[in-house]
Amino acid sequence: MRIPRKMEHVHHALQLGQSGEQGFTDIKLIPNCLPETSTELISLQTIIGELTLSSPIIVNAMTGGAQETEEINRELAVAARETGLAMAVGSQMAAIKNPELASSYRVVRKVNPRGIIFGNLGSEASLEQAERAVEMVQANALQIHLNVMQELIMPEGDRNFIGMLERISLINERVGVPVIVKEVGFGMAQESAAALVQAGVKIIDVGGSGGTNFAAIENARRTLPMNWLNDWGCKTAVSLMEVMNISNSLNSAIPSNISVIGSGGIRSTLEICKALTLGASAVGIAGTFLRTLRAEGTSALVKQITDYHQELNLIMTALGAPTIQNLWNVPVVISGESAQWCEVRGIN
Ligand code: FNR
Repeated sequence: MRIPRKMEHVHHALQLGQSGEQGFTDIKLIPNCLPETSTELISLQTIIGELTLSSPIIVNAMTGGAQETEEINRELAVAARETGLAMAVGSQMAAIKNPELASSYRVVRKVNPRGIIFGNLGSEASLEQAERAVEMVQANALQIHLNVMQELIMPEGDRNFIGMLERISLINERVGVPVIVKEVGFGMAQESAAALVQAGVKIIDVGGSGGTNFAAIENARRTLPMNWLNDWGCKTAVSLMEVMNISNSLNSAIPSNISVIGSGGIRSTLEICKALTLGASAVGIAGTFLRTLRAEGTSALVKQITDYHQELNLIMTALGAPTIQNLWNVPVVISGESAQWCEVRGIN
């Protein structure tokens, strides 16, 4: 029997791993020998849009839509519940088209009735489909993913990208929960982010490159594997700086109610912290959590997240930044390719 596409994504994501070049080695945090704070004063609470999260770490969208994925979603949801993390399900379009598959997504709400859960659909979705996705998991927010390059690399993928912004804008206005627009690992530039903000979007997940690589995954799924465009995209660190700079493209200050999420190849607490100091309100982690879950099990994933929280507390103490908002004002040095990129793109 053919392995369902959803499980092929899981297998290839695990097999290919992450390139690791998300740009964070170019970002250096500056030590603060007089932090004037204490570990007891550190708060990991953060706000994205209208949602208050107890942790800035989000289990990013991965799966659902096939039997084996139900098991993965269940275990991810257990880990999210035990650690208080918000969690996104993978694209729900499979269950919108075939309602029998809905249980592989609903399991997340069943396991974690009071948790913060994000639904997920692509930008081809209609308002009605978005409403059904939200209802399916009683979502607290809806992610809409942008994955143009993934579609183009797939021989059976979409070829028509007209009307994306218009559909996103309508869903954002009417769906009744906050909408998060995310890339899936190719990154976002300030021009696209500015267009989204102008269309009314208030939460953007940059989904930069350097982590799970959907060009490589789709290329590996072909009968004759290839590596066409495997290095397409904008690294996560640079993508964050691009999106934080949308005021340039908007010709006005960034509206204060815009929240940015950093994701793509985040694997360590230091990387989480660097993403937050670049202005992110939260970070999304997918591949790293999937790997821990599949290789070591649910309790290892709970321990990994608990360790992240403890380590984040220590680094925030060292930086004298007791809140996530304080981290935005921590000075950083940007070097290498990321500094060059910023210079060329007029980002300061
Ligand atoms: C994903 N990702 C994803 N994103 C999305 O919006 N809808 C989806 O259905 C999926 N499916 C999916 C399956 C698998 C197996 C993985 C590993 C990832 C993308 C994910 O949310 C994230 O944007 C990227 O994986 C980059 O982050 P990481 O993995 O480098 O932390």
